[in-house]
Amino acid sequence: MITKYYNKKLYTFEKVTGMTGIFSEKELDTLLEYSESGIKTPFINRLYDLGILIPESDFTTLKNISDQNISLESLHIDITDSCPLSCPQCYKGKPEKTFMDFQNFKSIVDEAVKLNIFQIALGGGEALVHPEIGKFISSVAETQLAVSITTSGFSLNEEKLQDFILRGVNHIQISLNSIDEKVNSLSRDGFRDAVKAIALLKKTGLSFGINTVIRKDNLNTLSKTIGFAKENGADNINLLRYKPSGFETFGKISPDKNDLQKVSEIIRSIRGIKIKLDSAFSNLLLYVNSGNISYERVGCAAGIKFISITPEGVFKPCSHQSYAERADSIEAYIQESKYIQKFKTSVFHNESICTTCIYRLLCKSCRVITEKENVTIGETDCIGYRKE
Ligand SMILES: C[S@@+](CC[C@H](N)C(=O)[O-])C[C@H]1O[C@@H](n2cnc3c(N)ncnc32)[C@H](O)[C@@H]1O
Repeated sequence: MITKYYNKKLYTFEKVTGMTGIFSEKELDTLLEYSESGIKTPFINRLYDLGILIPESDFTTLKNISDQNISLESLHIDITDSCPLSCPQCYKGKPEKTFMDFQNFKSIVDEAVKLNIFQIALGGGEALVHPEIGKFISSVAETQLAVSITTSGFSLNEEKLQDFILRGVNHIQISLNSIDEKVNSLSRDGFRDAVKAIALLKKTGLSFGINTVIRKDNLNTLSKTIGFAKENGADNINLLRYKPSGFETFGKISPDKNDLQKVSEIIRSIRGIKIKLDSAFSNLLLYVNSGNISYERVGCAAGIKFISITPEGVFKPCSHQSYAERADSIEAYIQESKYIQKFKTSVFHNESICTTCIYRLLCKSCRVITEKENVTIGETDCIGYRKE
């Protein structure tokens, strides 16, 4: 179990289940009591049910808890910007065909261990075209951190998948915007690669999920896509918020209030599969849960819970942001970056169009969207937006 203590809260992570726990001071006392007595209370049983604790959980890290000032839980590392696909929706610029150097990757992993970061997500470009991806997986798997890959499924075959599993990959996320091939092709390339990859993953015991970007053009097939994920044993379907991209007109693709209303109805009606919402969808998350989400689990997490690293080792709060900075280390970046300081402050202010929203103090909505095209803060297409 990896533990991290900041802002008077304990954060725990179990690599096997991929589950994060957040404990208030009182709950931490209960956990400490259990670690010494071994007596299970209903609270402790619930932690086991959720996978926040597992039978192998190691409580020794609880003995030396000290305040930390780095809240990062994951690193999103683009190990290459090379990609064989040409997805119409893609927000990445023209690929330079840069591949991250293994030594650079290894030094990031070493620092991540020291900073008690929970997981590393490999992406791109297309991570699977990096010739050393196997070595990258192994170097994370040897540590306490979890390692996952987000991929289109391009070039994944049985042999490659078995190799990744043997090396210790914890989770694979396949990108598919719709189970209807025609609809998917409006925004993504590589439908067959994705479907084939899901069929391969289904046969293994490896945890996997599906990434679906919510767009105006795939809403009508969303229920069917979720059904497909469920039938194929996916652990989750992760609904990503559509962000501005160089090839499309944002307003034509991005779902409006009514569309998001439909999405929320679908989410509420689904059983039997975990539906995740990208942290940029904090408005939808609050709406679906009628505001009953704790402060730590909501809001844009860019620069706070995760950062993005390019194949050249340049840091950004998130991969959709253009704010790129070089730094000697992750710690130096977090402490010295002017953008990170800006991201730590709440996006809500009194001149915002969000003043009438009941979720305004929790929302901390996606900065890429709310700040686009000089919109001060907030969006009129938001599900929580009211004129007065
Ligand atoms: C850029 S891709 C890179 C990884 C890999 N090539 C893949 O296709 O999964 C990472 C994720 O970003 C999503 N994505 C691409 N363009 C997007 C956009 N404009 N807004 C939100 N997500 C987007 C993709 O669907 C994918 O799930």
